[in-house]
Amino acid sequence: MPLDSQIHRMRSETPACKNLIHFNNAGCSLTPKPVLDSVISHLCLEQEIGGYEAAAQADSQIERFYSALAGLLNCAAGEIAFIENATRAWDMAFYSIPFQKGDRILTGQAEYASNYLAMLQVQKLTGIEITVIPSDEKGILCLDRLQQEITDRVKLIALTHIPSQSGIVQPAQAVGEIANKHNIIYLLDVCQSAGQMTLDVNKIGCDILTGTGRKYLRGPRGTGYLYIKNELLDKLEPPFIDLHSASWKSEQEFEWQKNARRFENWECFVAGKIGLARAVEYAMELGLENIENRIQQLARLLISALQAQKNITVFESGDCLSGIITFIKNDEKPLVLQQRLQPENINIGVSKRSSAMLDFSKRGLETINRASLHYYNTEGEINKFIEVLSAK
Ligand SMILES: Cc1ncc(COP(=O)(O)O)c(C=O)c1O
Repeated sequence: MPLDSQIHRMRSETPACKNLIHFNNAGCSLTPKPVLDSVISHLCLEQEIGGYEAAAQADSQIERFYSALAGLLNCAAGEIAFIENATRAWDMAFYSIPFQKGDRILTGQAEYASNYLAMLQVQKLTGIEITVIPSDEKGILCLDRLQQEITDRVKLIALTHIPSQSGIVQPAQAVGEIANKHNIIYLLDVCQSAGQMTLDVNKIGCDILTGTGRKYLRGPRGTGYLYIKNELLDKLEPPFIDLHSASWKSEQEFEWQKNARRFENWECFVAGKIGLARAVEYAMELGLENIENRIQQLARLLISALQAQKNITVFESGDCLSGIITFIKNDEKPLVLQQRLQPENINIGVSKRSSAMLDFSKRGLETINRASLHYYNTEGEINKFIEVLSAK
């Protein structure tokens, strides 16, 4: 069922919608009530009967995390690990790859900052080589360049599906075809795409995928996840170990868990894990295709409304759109605009060069505004936003 007909229910389950225009879903979305309820009820149970006892009692709810994520990504439940955020999920996989001097990593100009920092660190420690594949004038990774850069020494292709600082959806599946053809490990960061479009690891062809709970999935903060393809599991050595990821066999021996849980920590935000499972189920009940269609519709409305303003430059247009729209108001600095909108109960984001060094250097940008829409936003909110935006 198209989401337009369910907008009242969706908004009533997101109580802040009454007086807040939240266009910062790429930062952190508003959690729907069923998700918040599931977190609170587990926290209350912990308070009533004890944390360990609550976890034992909620065992089946906790296990639903794995089946929910497996359903979302079209993989097996054993290929999923719960990690406290996307950066650590990405790190756990990345630092497991046995890089040696001379190995090469290919990544995109719009790669997420912390991912790139980890590459720089491994470059410093082991002497690997990082090659950054440029984006074309539309902001899309150049597939021809990627293809040209493939050599026997390429050990990893790392791609961010939708960048933090631009709403352009990158050609994840085409990259997967290249990676698979050459038998190269493919690590995909879906932090901004999960929850706003259908994701299928088999179609995309990625070996590793990482994401966070709080953005378009509308889960709690402090939650993230990692998918690792079964076939890859024994080729990677997790950088950390504990009594959950492995069992202690004898004075000299330990054994990793048989599945992706070997990348997890024993101690974790249990209520958050339950909440993220509920958030994934909530998104799937609405239907990812429905969600994508509604977000695209709203994104196009916002782009044309912004383009109609004489003093605004919008960076997204045409195809490969997501809910993230970035722009600059020529007569108002991005931070000033963000702060002016806040007392009007309008939340937007700001992206700075310091967190998008490669991309913004190429594009000649310093700081820009980011309005990120979700399906529970409305045309009325877009109109109000434009009205306030242009009032100065
Ligand atoms: C594309 C992308 N990757 C990774 C991250 C990091 O996610 P987390 O803060 O959960 O580590 C973000 C967060 O903004 C992001 O936008």
